[in-house]
Amino acid sequence: MRTDDNAKFLVIGHRGAAGIRPENTLAAFRKAVSLGVDGVELDVQCVEGELLVFHDDRLERTTDGRGRLEDATFESVRRLDAGAGERVPTLREALAAVPSSVLVNVELKGRGTAVPAARLLRGLRRPIVVSSFDHQRLAVFREHCPRTPVAPLAGEWTAGLPATVQALRAWGVHIAARLATAARVAAVKSWGCRCLVYTVNSAGRARRLRALGVDGVFTDFPDRLSGAC
Ligand code: G3P
Ligand code: MG
Repeated sequence: MRTDDNAKFLVIGHRGAAGIRPENTLAAFRKAVSLGVDGVELDVQCVEGELLVFHDDRLERTTDGRGRLEDATFESVRRLDAGAGERVPTLREALAAVPSSVLVNVELKGRGTAVPAARLLRGLRRPIVVSSFDHQRLAVFREHCPRTPVAPLAGEWTAGLPATVQALRAWGVHIAARLATAARVAAVKSWGCRCLVYTVNSAGRARRLRALGVDGVFTDFPDRLSGAC
């Protein structure tokens, strides 16, 4: 797919396919791809200079490890079981597991991710969108990787959002499902951006959002949405 394709309603596997495989693992990305998603979303954090695909600040919820990710070494995280025998992948491994026709949304989750992500993604010939709740982090990424599309994440609807979109020359705005009213979707579109919504786990909800003008959704269950909207 292409990131400049306006017409396509995008079904993006959230953390791969977090509802049906251990989140943010190669098994989750492969499952999402096998279900025909348009894209996969993943979270990255930097550990000892390496980008790992991992959501939380702590290890307990998704692995058999304990403690804070920032206190762990790269090698110790790589030894953990991330569910069903899966390992915590590097961003490079995750990109290699997803066919280059499938969009990858890299969410810059942790501190120190913007510059290494820019180094890795710069020059890749495949559809990528980089997002973050931390819009300053996204600006740093943009500075180092000006051609890769970016999308601020919005967990709250704030007055500063249009200025952020303009400063970033954002490709899209990714908003929480509870924020997705017709007026807000129209506002995002009026800024010249795609409006994508997270996290949507029913086909009915996805269809209603599409009718509002939403351009795509993130889902934990691509099996429920692929082909249904
Ligand atoms: O990128 C959409 C979504 O992943 C944002 O929230 O907490 O699941 O990373 P979170
Ligand atoms: Mg995420």
